[in-house]
Amino acid sequence: MMNLDLACAHFRSLLEEQLHRVEAMSAEKVDFSKKQTVTVGIVPGDGIGPIIMAQAVRVLETLLRDEISGGTVALKSVEGLTIENRMAQGKAVPEDVLAQIKACDVLLKGPTTTPMGGTMESANVTLRRELDLYANVRPVTIPEEGIDWVFYRENTEGEYVLGSKGLELPGMAVDFKVTTDPGTRRIAQAAFDYARNNGKTRVSIVTKANIMKKTDGKFTAICHDVALDYPEITADDWYIDIMTANLVNPAIRNQFQVFVLPNLYGDIITDEAAQIQGGVGTAGSANLGDRYAMFEAIHGSAPRMMEEGLGDYANPQSILKAAAMLLRHICRTRAAEKLEKALAECPCGVTGTADGETCAEYVSNLLTFL
Ligand code: IPM
Ligand code: MG
Repeated sequence: MMNLDLACAHFRSLLEEQLHRVEAMSAEKVDFSKKQTVTVGIVPGDGIGPIIMAQAVRVLETLLRDEISGGTVALKSVEGLTIENRMAQGKAVPEDVLAQIKACDVLLKGPTTTPMGGTMESANVTLRRELDLYANVRPVTIPEEGIDWVFYRENTEGEYVLGSKGLELPGMAVDFKVTTDPGTRRIAQAAFDYARNNGKTRVSIVTKANIMKKTDGKFTAICHDVALDYPEITADDWYIDIMTANLVNPAIRNQFQVFVLPNLYGDIITDEAAQIQGGVGTAGSANLGDRYAMFEAIHGSAPRMMEEGLGDYANPQSILKAAAMLLRHICRTRAAEKLEKALAECPCGVTGTADGETCAEYVSNLLTFL
């Protein structure tokens, strides 16, 4: 526990670190359509991760058979991002694992377990920061209700950037939330670009700017400023509390299209949205930066399912949707469309219990739809 002087010094060093981060932010985008070989890192993760990832690899190997044999796409196994190795090395992402990851262009990643308590950061948070994956893109669709939502969650700042660097004084604890100008501008641009390129007419900015006046106030103001460059798109702003209610209001929810929000609100509301779609096992998630990108399931490693011996019954739909997003990101649009169509058409009997289909049975069936 700290005294006041130490706490002030700690706060000062955090501010300095964040100012340096802002200075170092640069934006040079990779053009995957021009890259000779795209290297896709395969990271199995923990718990049900290796089970669902093995099935996702089967699907990718089928869809990309010619590209893999022709050398334009390489699937590369990344070893060592396991809870056992991370605990043994005492690092959220051990150095050698990070080096393997940085040698790839994009990653398909199974869920990784975050140890409860202690000081070890979530591997997800570390990777998002180390690879500067600032846009967490999470689509949710319910065609029969006319719902087609895409969430652009800011993924490197807000409550997360200093989430494991809070401080404790006798009788109290403090965490920090950071919102930067360039960090906000780039997520807003990503959301509005998506809207423009996909014929969307509305972007909803969601914060709690009535309470978090500095950070969320800045977020809202910058999003509106970016919106000026997109006159064909309506930008409206909402508070997170009423927006969580709107999403469960069938009378209005299908009017929303694209959402842009700070990190923690985005985390929470995307679980809600995924649940409305059919469960967190059904939603994919892309973490996009200008250089790297990481695609993953929105759910965790499901330790309870593993303890009950039900790992083989885990639902792979979420990681497969993430795989489709990966294919689109690396400009393999036809392969992405094939997978999306198969996911929409193939009946899924996976229930997460031994009464349902296994993950592998479902994928064997899915392959016949490709
Ligand atoms: C998510 C997860 C992560 C987050 C956890 C695993 C750190 O909930 O991707 O939504 O909070 O971002
Ligand atoms: Mg979450």
